[in-house]
Amino acid sequence: MEKIILTGDRPTGKLHLGHYVGSLRRRVELQNSGEFDKIFVMIADAQALTDNADNPEKIRQNIIEVALDYLSVGIDPAKTTIFIQSQVPELCELAFYYMNLVTVSRVQRNPTVKTEIKMRNFEQSIPLGFFCYPVSQASDITAFKATTVPAGEDQAPMIELTREIVNRFNNIYGPTLVEPDILLPENAVCQRLPGTDGKAKMSKSLGNCIYLSDSPKELKKKVNSMYTDPEHLTIDSPGHLEGNCPFIYLDAFSNDGHFAKYLPEYNNLQELKDHYTRGGVGDGTVKKLLTNVLEEELVPIRERRKYYEQNIPEVYDILRKGSENARATAAKTLDEVRAAMKINYFDDAALIADQAARYKA
Ligand code: TRP
Repeated sequence: MEKIILTGDRPTGKLHLGHYVGSLRRRVELQNSGEFDKIFVMIADAQALTDNADNPEKIRQNIIEVALDYLSVGIDPAKTTIFIQSQVPELCELAFYYMNLVTVSRVQRNPTVKTEIKMRNFEQSIPLGFFCYPVSQASDITAFKATTVPAGEDQAPMIELTREIVNRFNNIYGPTLVEPDILLPENAVCQRLPGTDGKAKMSKSLGNCIYLSDSPKELKKKVNSMYTDPEHLTIDSPGHLEGNCPFIYLDAFSNDGHFAKYLPEYNNLQELKDHYTRGGVGDGTVKKLLTNVLEEELVPIRERRKYYEQNIPEVYDILRKGSENARATAAKTLDEVRAAMKINYFDDAALIADQAARYKA
C-alpha cells in the first residue's frame, strides 16, 4: 500500500516556534526522508471559517502568511502538494455523506471540540458548521487515502473519529477507504512549547509567541525578556530549571555542536544545567546561547522567506497548482465513493440496461 501523508493548519495567524517544533520541522524531515509516496499539506481555510464566518478577510490574509511560513521552513512544492481546502469542493461532498455515519452525541464527546466550544463561549449557540468540523476533517484525510497524519495530541480525537467513519463506510458500502494513523511529535517539549512568559502554550492572543518571521532584533528582545527563575537573583545563587523558559527552549533546539560553537566551556546542555543548578551561571549567558541557537535555525528560514516575499505571484501559483493536483486526487476517491454508495447512476451502464429490461418485461 502507498504511504501517504495529509496534514494541515487553519490559517488564523502567522506560524510560530511552537508550530515549528510541534509540526513543521517534522514535516520537512518526513518530506525529505523519501519514505512517503505522496505528501499533502493543506491550508484549512474552510475549517477556519467555521468559527470565523464574520471575518473572511482575516482568513484571506492569513493564507499567504501560512503559505510563506511553509515555504520558508523548507516545505518543497516539488515534493509536497500544498493546497487550499476550499479549492477542493469534493471535500464538502464527502463530508456531507459522512455526516450520515456519525451521531450528534459522538461529536459532543470529542474532547478537543468541547474545549474549543468553551474557549469561544459557544455554549449557547454553536455554529453547525463548527460542530461538524471533525467530520469534515475525516473527509480531508480520507479523500487523499492518507495513511499517516502528523499532528499534535489535540488532533487525536479527530483521527479516532476518522477511523470510525472509515470502518463504518467500508462495512456498509464495501472496502473503499483507508484507515489513517496519527504521527505524534517526538517528545513532550515539542508537543507543548511554552510561550515566552513561561505560562501557557504559545498563542497569539496571549502575546507570548516568537514568530518564524520575527527579525533578529525582535528575536533577541523576546529571548531577553523570557521568564526564567524568579528566585535566581544573583549569578551565584542556585537556579531552578523547572518552568525556566530558556532551558526548555534549549531542550527543544540545541545540540552538542552548538556548545562547541557558542559556549565551549560546556560540552553539552546537561553540563550547563548542572552548573546553573549549583549556582554560578547568569541568565544572560543562557539567553545569549539561546539567541545564537535560534538565530542559526531561523537564518535560512528568513532567507527563503525573503525570496518568496519578493515573488508573491509565484506563491499563489504554487497554491493554485497544488490545489489542482489535490482536486484531481480527491475527485478520484469521490468516484470510488459514489460507486460504492450506488449514487453513480449515469456511469453505470448495467444499471440503465437492467432497469430498461425490468420495465420492458
Ligand atoms: N484541525 C487542524 C488544526 O486546527 C487543521 C486540519 C484540518 C487538519 N484538517 C486537517 C489537520 C486534517 C490534520 C489533518 O490545526
